[in-house]
Order: sequence, then structure tokens, then C-alpha cells
Amino acid sequence: MTTEAQLEAQFADTIEAKDRIEPRDWMPEAYRKTLIRQVAQHAHSEIIGMQPEGNWITRAPSLRRKAILLAKVQDEAGHGLYLYSAAETLGASRNELTEKLIAGKQKYSSIFNYPTLSYTDVGTIGWLVDGAAICNQVPLCRTSFGPYGRAMIRVCKEESFHQRQGYELLMTMMRGTDEQREMVQESVNRFWWPALMMFGPPDDDSPNTAQSMEWGIKTHTNDELRQKFVDMSIPQAEALGVTFPDENLKWNEERGHYDFSTPDWDEFWSVVKGNGPCNDQRIAHRKRAWDEGKWVRDAALAFAEQSAEATAASAPTGTGAPADTTTEETAK
Ligand SMILES: [Fe+2]
Ligand SMILES: [Fe+2]
Repeated sequence: MTTEAQLEAQFADTIEAKDRIEPRDWMPEAYRKTLIRQVAQHAHSEIIGMQPEGNWITRAPSLRRKAILLAKVQDEAGHGLYLYSAAETLGASRNELTEKLIAGKQKYSSIFNYPTLSYTDVGTIGWLVDGAAICNQVPLCRTSFGPYGRAMIRVCKEESFHQRQGYELLMTMMRGTDEQREMVQESVNRFWWPALMMFGPPDDDSPNTAQSMEWGIKTHTNDELRQKFVDMSIPQAEALGVTFPDENLKWNEERGHYDFSTPDWDEFWSVVKGNGPCNDQRIAHRKRAWDEGKWVRDAALAFAEQSAEATAASAPTGTGAPADTTTEETAK
């Protein structure tokens, strides 16, 4: 008989070998809980993240921009679905998680509590927000829980399209009029700090990081990823012809990284706690969509049950295996 201690040792060996934990494997309850929390928060972010950009679909400046934005927002819905499915393999249903989101018991990325004030924000979100998401998510392709890591592979490919469409939109505007260039700079100014906050609180204020790294769920700390994002974004900003709103941004030869100011963590915590400019609006909208979609979920479920009953009724009785009529028929 396998004892609890043996199961724990097996789990530790799998993590140590950087192999994958799969849904049917034994796992510590705390590992399961941490993953459900993280995957759910990630899924909610994808779905809530459709709102700020969805806001501009009807006002796209051209058919081409509209087609791109529609595809992008649809991708985000897909990301949400892959992630809810990954959470389901841990025993948490999509219904249960959505109810928790609406009740304010689970979080989503605080970036989506900021408004989108012009079409330029579609470009800035693609460049900086999807860019930060890529920084966060590429290492997650090798996270220790199989379904989560595999979902991330496709998500990352699509995020990279999102980032490029955003950058291309901004680049097009930068080649336009002075007014358009000002719009890009203004939008970048508003999104830079919230984008840096997407990596979460500083390492010394992030109590779950050490355990998540031990379990192979996370492979880099928040501050490491934030630094990587800053280093990556500066040459892109230079190529674009915009600046970031931080006078302390400069290359540090010794560290081999850019120095930058500390984000306003009070603002971060205030937004996380529900006081951002759009928190109420985002949840109210999600709740409305959830309530209005109830009849669709009920109908789909009733249809599935009916089909299952019909299949059961028409199946031959006895062995439970379908009768092999083909042999007889071909013999005739
Ligand atoms: Fe996404
Ligand atoms: Fe995206």
C-alpha cells in the first residue's frame, strides 16, 4: 500500500526532475489550491480583459482595424476557456469560479480596471499589456502542472500576434500627424505604470512566491520578470519614438539592466482592493453577461442530457457492447 509519505516523496521527485504533475496524480492539497487560485485568476483576467478593448470594436477607424481587434478579443475569450478547462482538471468548475469572481472572492489582473480612452489604447494595450503578459507567460509554458503549461503554449503564440498588432498600430500613428503622435505618447504615459504593476507586488511583499517556486509553478520572481520587461521595452520605445514617464530610467552598466523608479504600490493595492477607476463597471458587466447567458447554459445542458438519454435508450441491452451487425450484413 502506498502511504501518504510515499505519495509526497513521489510528488517531490516529479517536481525535482522538472517532470509534469498531471490531473490524476496525487498532489498536496495546498498545491491544488494554489494552482486553482492562480489559474482562475488568469482565466478571469482573459475574460475581463475583453472589456476595455471590446469597448472600441464598434468604433474602429477602418475595416482592417476592426477585423484585427475582433480577432484579438476573440482570442482572449479562447484563452479564458483553455484556462477554465485547466482549472476544471483540478476539480474547480467554471460555474463555481465565475460565481466567485462576480462575488468579489477571486481577483483578475488589476490592469483591466483602467479605462480605454481612445483607439490608441488598443495599440498601447497590445504592445505593453500583452507584452507584459508574454513576459509572465512564456516561463509558464514549463510550469509543473501539465494542463496549465500546455494551455500556455498556444496562449503565448496568440499573445505574440496581439503584441505585434498593437505595436504596428502605434507605429502607423507615429508616421501620421503631430496630433496622432501626441495621442500615442499620452496613451503610453497612462499605461506604463499599470503595465509594470502587472507582474505583481515586489518580491519582499509577495508571500506566495517562494512556495510557488519550490513547487515549480513559478520559475521567476515578480521583480525578475518586471526587470526583463523594462529591459525589453526600452529599445522598442526608442524605435517607436516615444518615452516612458520615468526620469530615473537609465542603463546601469554594472547591473547590466535598466534602472527604473519604484511603481506606486499604494495605487496598486488600492486598485486590487476594488478602488480602481473601472472595478465596479467591469464586474457589473461580467455579472450582466453571466445572468443574461443563463438560459443558454440551461438549454445547452438540457440538450446534452436529452441527447445522452436518447443514446442510452437506443443502445442495445445485454452485454453493454454495441451489437456487431456489420459482420452479419457483409456476410449476406
Ligand atoms: Fe490572452
Ligand atoms: Fe492578448
